[in-house]
Amino acid sequence: MLLENKVAVIHGGGGSIGAAAARVFAREGARLFLAGRSLPRLEAAASVARAEGADVSVAVVDAMDQAAVDRHVDEVADAAGRIDISLNTVGFDHVQGLPIAETSLEDYLHPVVGYLQTNFVTAKAVSRHMIAQRSGVILTVSTPGARLTGRGLLGNAAQSAGLEGFSRALAGELGPVGVRVVCVRPHAMSDALATSYTGEMFGRTAAAGGIPMDEWLAGLVGMTLLGRLPVLDEVAEYLAFVASDRARSITGAIANLSAGALVD
Ligand SMILES: NC(=O)c1ccc[n+]([C@@H]2O[C@H](COP(=O)([O-])OP(=O)(O)OC[C@H]3O[C@@H](n4cnc5c(N)ncnc54)[C@H](OP(=O)(O)O)[C@@H]3O)[C@@H](O)[C@H]2O)c1
Repeated sequence: MLLENKVAVIHGGGGSIGAAAARVFAREGARLFLAGRSLPRLEAAASVARAEGADVSVAVVDAMDQAAVDRHVDEVADAAGRIDISLNTVGFDHVQGLPIAETSLEDYLHPVVGYLQTNFVTAKAVSRHMIAQRSGVILTVSTPGARLTGRGLLGNAAQSAGLEGFSRALAGELGPVGVRVVCVRPHAMSDALATSYTGEMFGRTAAAGGIPMDEWLAGLVGMTLLGRLPVLDEVAEYLAFVASDRARSITGAIANLSAGALVD
C-alpha cells in the first residue's frame, strides 16, 4: 500500500476533495486525522474511510485560527508520534464571474485572504513537527484560475496564483530539511458540484452569463484537450501518489490536473 504507516491530517476533511482523499488515503493504509468545520460532514467522511479499514479520528477545528490549528496538530503528533502528510482542502464560497466595476474590494479580498490564511496556518502548524522529524509532505490545492485569463476571475486568480507561489516558496524553505511541498491544481469537477461550495458559485457565474449551468460546464469541457473534466477520485488518487514515498523527488511542483485546459 502507498501510505502504509503514514499519519495524515486533512483540513477540510469533510469536504468534497477532503473526503475523497480520506477514502483513498485510508485504502492505501494511512492513519487519518480529519479536521473541519461541520461534524456531520467529518463523521460521514470518517465512516467511509473506516470502511476501508483505517484508524480515523475527527475534530472540529477552525482552519483559519492559528492557535486552534496548532493545538490540534500538537494533539495529533502526541497521539500518533509523527505527522507525515498534511493536506489542506478547505474551501468556501466567494464571488466569481463579475467584472471589476461590479466587484467590491471586500469581495475581491475574501478568497485571497481566506485561502492564503488557511494554507499558511495549517502549513505553519505542521511544519514545526515535520522540521523536527526531518520528513513530511505538505499538500495544497489551487485552481486553474492561477493561469487563466478572462472576466470575473480576479479574486480567484489572485488567490490561486498566490497559493502556488506560497507553495513553491515553502518548498524552497523546507526542502533542505527533507520536507516536500506540492500544490495540486485540478479543474472544476462536475461530480463535486452536489457537495462543494462550487455548486452554488458556478451556478451564479453561469446565471451572470445568462446561460444554464450545464451549458456553462460544457464550455469548460470544450476548453480541455481531453474533452472532459477531472473527477474527484482522480484527484484523490493523485494526492495519494504524491503524498507517498514513490513521489519522494517531487517538491516545489504545481500538478496540472486540468485535463489539458492548461498546458505547461
Ligand atoms: N470542487 C472543485 O471543482 C475544485 C476545483 C479546483 C480546486 N478546488 C479547490 O479545492 C479545495 C476544496 O474544494 P471542495 O470542492 O472540496 O470544497 P467543499 O466540498 O465545499 O469542501 C470544503 C470544506 O472546507 C471546510 N471549511 C470551510 N471553511 C473552513 C474553516 N474555516 N475551517 C475548517 N474547515 C472549513 C468546509 O466545511 P463545511 O463542511 O462546514 O462547509 C468543507 O467541508 C478549495 O481550495 C478549492 O479551491 C476545488
